[in-house]
Amino acid sequence: MKKYDFLLDAIGNTPLVKVKFETPGSVYAKLEYLNPGGSVKDRSALYMVQQAEKSGQLKPGGTLIDASSGNQGIATAMIGAARGYKVIITISEKSSLEKVNTIKAYGAQVVVCPSTEFIEDPRSYHSQAVAIHKKTPNSFMPNQYFNIENRNAHYSLLGPEIWKQTEGKVTHFFAGAGTGGTVSGVGKYLKEQNPNIKVFAVDSINSFRTTKGHPKPYKVEGMGIDFVSPVLANEVISEFIPVSDEDALGMLPVLASQHGMLVGPSSGAVAYAAKEYAKTLGKNDLAVMIFGDSGRAYLTKNFYNKN
Ligand SMILES: Cc1ncc(COP(=O)(O)O)c(C=O)c1O
Repeated sequence: MKKYDFLLDAIGNTPLVKVKFETPGSVYAKLEYLNPGGSVKDRSALYMVQQAEKSGQLKPGGTLIDASSGNQGIATAMIGAARGYKVIITISEKSSLEKVNTIKAYGAQVVVCPSTEFIEDPRSYHSQAVAIHKKTPNSFMPNQYFNIENRNAHYSLLGPEIWKQTEGKVTHFFAGAGTGGTVSGVGKYLKEQNPNIKVFAVDSINSFRTTKGHPKPYKVEGMGIDFVSPVLANEVISEFIPVSDEDALGMLPVLASQHGMLVGPSSGAVAYAAKEYAKTLGKNDLAVMIFGDSGRAYLTKNFYNKN
């Protein structure tokens, strides 16, 4: 194991672990919940902050402000604490209490906003973050929903990591899509190495995208394409797989009690999609799925009790 002089250098290099699904091929989970802030969002949050420091948009003593379903906020709060920035996070009331409390524990301020159907709604957590950013001097908003650096983070870090860990043998890639940064950045990198790799964006059946603009509420947090995202690179996505709350949440006790993997709802959705697809894999196929965060952030939601 490596040793690090600075906490944020420990982001990335997460394990890739085989999951025993019924398949002629192999399916591996990338355990992103083992990042220091507990999710895949550590990577994009750090990258966006580093780019802003380089370009001068973020200056010493500045304030970081972003809208988040939780994990981007947790990552930003951790980075702010480690680098000496003040942090304000707007979050939807749908997000778990554990996530809100984690952001606060890092010393950040949290503004809980109503859960709205559309991101453009002035009450939405995104609109609220924009408003706070406008009135806060010396502030920087990473703006994960509209900042292409979010996708570039996964293109430069997570994509190459998966390619190396699988020794170039990866054939299928599954990730939950919220902003679309993870699936697009990794997908773009992998397709550049081998254009035959299939890239799957896992979405909610109730999202803005799946319902063609008529979204309904859903329980899965972090993923679900709820707006026309400039971060999403449609050209690298082979297929969008919509998954219901029931199927996503139904996987959680299975993964925890039969595979020893205590993961969050987006990982449940990704695992459901990959498990179904895995039945059709050939013996040389190697699928990688992103397990974006840990189930510890959702224990009070009772997704894990089968009784
Ligand atoms: C646990 C989890 N999975 C998946 C995603 C979706 O990632 P992306 O925004 O890169 O599409 C998020 C985003 O917040 C997340 O927190």
